[in-house]
Amino acid sequence: MQLTFLISCSLCAFLNVGLAADARSNKPAVVMVPGAFHSPQVFGKVTHQLAQADYEFLNAVALPSVGHLVERQADIDAVKSVLYEHLNAGRDVILVGNSYGCTVIGDAVNGAPRYPPSSDAPTATEIGIGGRIISLIYLAGYIPTIQEVEHPESKPDIHSVSPAFFNYHDDTGKVTADGDPTLRPQKAFYNLLPAKEADYWTGKLDFSSFDALNATGTYIPYTGDFKVVYVVGSQDKSVTPKWAQAFIDQPGAKFAVEHLDADHVAMLSKPKEVSDLILKYSKNHNA
Ligand SMILES: *[C@@H]1O[C@H](CO)[C@@H](O)[C@H](O)[C@H]1NC(C)=O
Repeated sequence: MQLTFLISCSLCAFLNVGLAADARSNKPAVVMVPGAFHSPQVFGKVTHQLAQADYEFLNAVALPSVGHLVERQADIDAVKSVLYEHLNAGRDVILVGNSYGCTVIGDAVNGAPRYPPSSDAPTATEIGIGGRIISLIYLAGYIPTIQEVEHPESKPDIHSVSPAFFNYHDDTGKVTADGDPTLRPQKAFYNLLPAKEADYWTGKLDFSSFDALNATGTYIPYTGDFKVVYVVGSQDKSVTPKWAQAFIDQPGAKFAVEHLDADHVAMLSKPKEVSDLILKYSKNHNA
């Protein structure tokens, strides 16, 4: 009797572990972060696609620095709060950023548990209880360089490195996207959308906080710690393919690179292609 009891109990434990592992091998949670000036609504089409593909945990995060004069830390904290809710509940996570949103997710994952980006990466420090980060997907990432994070004193003021349409209202601390009469947001962000839809999304833009945009990054996740995918939009007028390539070609950068026939806000112009990439990089880990 004693023996039977022990056997059934170990079987119980075994089944429990099996169930937990099963739940975790399911679809990961997807945490999506828009760019400067943008609301999380720009992820609506992608969220719809992912829901159809049986993804259950889908968060598009509102950046506090859009419409509010706050520092970048507020953006990072907003992402971390959603991220750790999933990790602590044992759910694996993919983070998807667009433009400045990639800067935010890059800082938010600093120190977070992850799957090794390649099979030869060290696994010894990993603990298998909570969830882990599978990958980061940068859609037209407007990101800190390795150089400026390693040597913050070398980082240029954003006035000198931002796209020409950034409009600095220095007296108020606000930045808007309407600074170039020859490249209105309809073209800078949404050049592949029908005119009416481009107007609609342009009307939803808000200011971004200068302090958030001009802050210096403190962590680079794409030199080996995490699996990071850079998605280049071949028709992007904001982070042009040439500019994206300069991020990709940095010495020490280890991106997986994808190309889409997309403009700057691929979630609106190519939602199916974006969600297909999320599906692709949901599986690509060495668990
Ligand atoms: C923007 O950031 C740079 C350093 O990266 C700093 O030197 C400059 O003072 C900042 N600009 C403002 C107006 O705070």
